[in-house]
Amino acid sequence: MKKVVLIAGDGIGTEITAAVVSILEKANAKVQWIEKKAGLAAHQESGNALPEDTVEAIKEHRIALKGPLTTPVGTGFRSVNVALRQQFNLYSNIRPARTLPNIDSPFKNVDMVIFRENTQGLYIGREHWIDEDTKNHAESIAVVTEAASRKIIKAAFEYARANGRKKVTLVHKANILKFTTGLFLEVGRSVAADYSDIEFEDLIVDNMAMQMVMRPQRFDVVVTTNLFGDILSDLASGLVGGLGVTGAANIGDDAAMFEAVHGSAPDIAGQNKANPLALLFSSLMMLEHIGQKQTAEDIRKAIYKTLVERKVYCTPDIGGEGTTSTFTQAVCDNI
Ligand code: NAI
Repeated sequence: MKKVVLIAGDGIGTEITAAVVSILEKANAKVQWIEKKAGLAAHQESGNALPEDTVEAIKEHRIALKGPLTTPVGTGFRSVNVALRQQFNLYSNIRPARTLPNIDSPFKNVDMVIFRENTQGLYIGREHWIDEDTKNHAESIAVVTEAASRKIIKAAFEYARANGRKKVTLVHKANILKFTTGLFLEVGRSVAADYSDIEFEDLIVDNMAMQMVMRPQRFDVVVTTNLFGDILSDLASGLVGGLGVTGAANIGDDAAMFEAVHGSAPDIAGQNKANPLALLFSSLMMLEHIGQKQTAEDIRKAIYKTLVERKVYCTPDIGGEGTTSTFTQAVCDNI
């Protein structure tokens, strides 16, 4: 049994985590859940959105599965998601986007995995006003280091090699941001030299955005900096049906956190309408990470079978007429 910290989260979080837990149980996943709190619910209960015992549990068990957390806009506590990524140096954000059967999309045969650097770039939050009085001139600083770039790019190549992928595409803007993304590109070229079995190409981010909608099938593994990765990974999700059907992992050297990328959907919370697929796909990434690949594959097959044969049992966001419960039951029946 592998101990995994389970953070149900806010809004639809409890419904989708319950669905995922029962599907993994049905598939005989060797997982023992350690339930902990974070987010708005934790804040209301203890005044702390990221309680110390949740952090301690992740430190101890090193693997977490996390539902969506509500983050108040403008005021209140800062994003727990960002805090967890920083605290555990979860530098690889991994977002697969694969065409699913019976999910409506004009894009066919998409199968790409985006590796986004999760800790640097423009997202370090180093911003200031040039003139504090007028607040009409702001500046933001991006940080890129050779060490962090090497880690994420190596992670992308290692993933490609381990998963029989053929190509790594590095995305940058080195024609304009010559120092920061220029460094990222230079490191990419040097890492690529150690992986002669895998094709390497680099693309400028604007071209990449166009290519992704014109010929998404040409991409395999993609690696890029934080801001570009944030945008392109949502774009990639959009190609295959949206954030409700794509999973995500945040992986560091000492810990890994798997999560749905969508939010807590307060508009449908408690109505048995939430689609658990995104968190379910994230949990399959978790099973693969902890060495339970066959169980992940069994569940993946059951999901595909459900989408093909029992779409009517799926949730309304993907064109079904069912509920969280009917979808969960259908997947369990197909395992
Ligand atoms: P959201 O993703 O919660 O909802 C956007 C729309 O998508 C809503 O109409 C919602 O009903 C629908 N939706 C989302 N997930 C769904 C699912 N699994 N099944 C069916 N429909 C689904 O985004 P929103 O409304 O901008 O944010 C709500 C809260 O979630 C905010 O407090 C925000 O900070 C937080 N949030 C948390 C994230 C995380 O924990 N990773 C990510 C994004 C937002």
